[in-house]
Amino acid sequence: MKPRLLVTGGAGFLGTYLLKQAKAFTASGTLHRTAATALPDITFHVCDLEQPEEVRILLDRVRPEIIIHTACSDQGGNLSAIPPAAGVMAIQSAERHIRFIHLSTDQVFDGTAAPYHETSPTSPINPYGQAKAQAEDLVRSLNPQAVIVRTSLLYDLRSPDRQTYQLIQTTQTKELYRLFTDEFRCPIWVENLVDALLELANNTYTGILHLCGPESFNRWELGMKLLRHFKVRPTANIQKGTIKDLGLVRPANLTLDSSIAQEFLQTPLLALSESFQETQKPHP
Ligand SMILES: NC(=O)c1ccc[n+]([C@@H]2O[C@H](COP(=O)([O-])OP(=O)(O)OC[C@H]3O[C@@H](n4cnc5c(N)ncnc54)[C@H](OP(=O)(O)O)[C@@H]3O)[C@@H](O)[C@H]2O)c1
Repeated sequence: MKPRLLVTGGAGFLGTYLLKQAKAFTASGTLHRTAATALPDITFHVCDLEQPEEVRILLDRVRPEIIIHTACSDQGGNLSAIPPAAGVMAIQSAERHIRFIHLSTDQVFDGTAAPYHETSPTSPINPYGQAKAQAEDLVRSLNPQAVIVRTSLLYDLRSPDRQTYQLIQTTQTKELYRLFTDEFRCPIWVENLVDALLELANNTYTGILHLCGPESFNRWELGMKLLRHFKVRPTANIQKGTIKDLGLVRPANLTLDSSIAQEFLQTPLLALSESFQETQKPHP
């Protein structure tokens, strides 16, 4: 019998990849505003995770052994759902002894004291980071056995992810698009993150875990590398910029140290060039 896995945010970017790659599980996903979606062998359930009663009914029906909670991101303009949904999922998973993996972000840090470790105190400076930091606190207090995975920019190599798509679209226009040279992140290929999450689903790790790519790139470097991967020539309206010159309040250096994950997991965390090579192999 395959273990039963529930992925919240089953129609989201990460959720969809998780469900596609979860062949070793009997997997199901949640939908919220997405009217319908379909994946082979996957059951979808409509559920508002802010509503404890809806979640209770869902869990009674699905009886998952593992939950990977990807729902509630910075998209869709509803940051206020992030803490309560995490709280409901944390309580319910604790009461039912379900292994609970909660997705968080590098944006729980302010970007002034990189590299950040699992033990670094959170210091969010934007509303998204603040909501995710609050969600982390709830998860930690309500389900001490939970895993809190902090990740960074997720990039896609089969087809452009949201930000790369926007960048590619901008090459068709004359609109100015600035890529910051003073903002650093540790991007991870979404399929690589999924492999690591599915391995985590089956092991005993608890607590915070940083799961990011092993390299820190500024936005300009990353944008240029992804444009090259998709064979798109950068145009003159794509320009270097700095958050400092524009006077923006954004975390500058969100380099996370993922060495605990690298030691603990069998899944290697791939450098950008390694993930490019992986895409040359046949797609499972
Ligand atoms: N993408 C990144 O680069 C990145 C980086 C760092 C961390 N993360 C974290 O990784 C996770 C996944 O990110 P993502 O980019 O895959 O997010 P996403 O594509 O925006 O998907 C989020 C999903 O959350 C669901 N949702 C929102 N409110 C809900 C509610 N009240 N009840 C139930 N479901 C609700 C939405 O469902 P419907 O579409 O059905 O409405 C949506 O599909 C998030 O926790 C995010 O914070 C992402």
